[in-house]
Amino acid sequence: MLLATLFTLLAPAQDVVPVIPKPNQIEWGQGSLELKPGLYVRFEEGLGAEARVLSDALSLRLDDDIKRVPISMEDHGSTAPDALGTPNQSIRLEWEDRVLGSEAYRITSDGNNLRILVHDTPGAFYAVQTLMMALPTSGPATFPRVQISDAPRFAWRGLHLDVGRHLFAVDDIKVLLDWMARLKFNRFHWHLSEDQGWRLEIRAYPKLTEVGAWRDATPPYGDRRGSDDTRYGGFYTQDQVREIVAYAAARHILVVPEIDMPGHMSAAIAAYPELGNSDIPGYAPKVQTHWGVHPYTLAPKEETFEWIDTVLGEVCELFPSPYIHIGGDEAPKDQWRQSAFAQSVMQREGLTDEKQLQAWFLARVSKMLEARGRKLLGWDEIREGGLVDGATVMVWRGWENAIEAARQGHDVVMAPGSHTYFDHYPLNPKSELAKGAEYECIGGFLPLEKVYRFEPVPSELLGSEAATYILGCQGQLWTEYIKTWDKLEYLAFPRAAALAEVAWTQPAERDWEDFQVRLEPFLERLQQAGVRYSDPNPEPQTTDPLK
Ligand code: ACM
Repeated sequence: MLLATLFTLLAPAQDVVPVIPKPNQIEWGQGSLELKPGLYVRFEEGLGAEARVLSDALSLRLDDDIKRVPISMEDHGSTAPDALGTPNQSIRLEWEDRVLGSEAYRITSDGNNLRILVHDTPGAFYAVQTLMMALPTSGPATFPRVQISDAPRFAWRGLHLDVGRHLFAVDDIKVLLDWMARLKFNRFHWHLSEDQGWRLEIRAYPKLTEVGAWRDATPPYGDRRGSDDTRYGGFYTQDQVREIVAYAAARHILVVPEIDMPGHMSAAIAAYPELGNSDIPGYAPKVQTHWGVHPYTLAPKEETFEWIDTVLGEVCELFPSPYIHIGGDEAPKDQWRQSAFAQSVMQREGLTDEKQLQAWFLARVSKMLEARGRKLLGWDEIREGGLVDGATVMVWRGWENAIEAARQGHDVVMAPGSHTYFDHYPLNPKSELAKGAEYECIGGFLPLEKVYRFEPVPSELLGSEAATYILGCQGQLWTEYIKTWDKLEYLAFPRAAALAEVAWTQPAERDWEDFQVRLEPFLERLQQAGVRYSDPNPEPQTTDPLK
């Protein structure tokens, strides 16, 4: 261990391409290539958008005097002189369909030029990210003479954001999407409804945002039972949603919306009390003002299913994602037990317990999605009472949920609380709290190294066909204890970088010592961009990142 550390520290810098996630195959040549003003980007038909991304990034990185790195389409058939003439140096984006698979790319250097070979546009986008991150953060833009052949380990490389507990500006979400793109994440799981706030404009049900988007109070940091007596709320308009979906799509990120049901529904039920179990004693729905699990659940009524169908209809119009996340987590069964109506549905349908009622409920929701050509995705509680055919399971609790679901042929996304909940303390909880109440986290302790060492395929499945059902992994940003964007960045970074490498890089190529060397320039990039992060090796006198 110590020797490995020493070796890494003493190794010459050119032996590390400072890219996160680490490319899967790097062949070293001699020296490096300096990218200079005067450089041209050329692309084959269909790769223009990625060529523009490259040109934009290079234009910023290269000399200020040069306004833009020019781009042009290659025209192999033409004998006419190229409008751009013969450049001193070029980067070419070209198709290569025989060897490379989806999202894969190859970067080669030849003389003064670079070539990027891809099978699809995400591959080209990821090649551009690798190229830009391989350049030093300042000084001459030298690219080491390496040949890189790279492809992701997993198809699902996600980050989740809860906007129910606290919501964030569209521009801030775009910043997160930018960093996700740099780290080759391709799924943004947007958790849009909660007990403490409904955040999505639904045209058919205006009270969801007029009433459901607003709560009367929020617990302050450091006082979980307390109240700030301040009204809090807001929501995303459908135009804003379209803006985010398009912004993400331009970065090859799919936005997967979540409408959590039948639990975590207090806000919607406060807006439309008839959706809930209104026949129980003391029924008094409200938008919740404290965290935790609340008893309000949707009632298994026909009018509730009509409401869900209409809401999902608008959701499907807004989000092209093949997956729609319907939550399914933490839905207490108390109200269904108390409700004569819910009990009558159980009797009518021959259901023996409330877990079966939830499975029946979700099977109906699944049909609504199927009718629209979409797939149901839910937290692992959707296994209770029987998993709907074709459902994808997002595992956040016990790993047996992943093992059993995969063995039954269900796709699985690994999002375990133990390794991927970024709302847990990033550094020692005691020293974090000593810095101030605003450092409070929900609990737990998830240091960077633990994220880095996360293995998404349960060992019981390694080598089996069931392992192929593990689609990938995802980091969670639950926001009970994230009131500001600064705090969100602080908890997201650099743990998201570690998870990106788990999701992208083959296990044999992953190396914690080597990651720490590549992390330094990554942290420098965050700092240059004004993004907060929790420093895994803080200097004692470091200034307070949240102040
Ligand atoms: C969850 O953390 N309730 C999925």
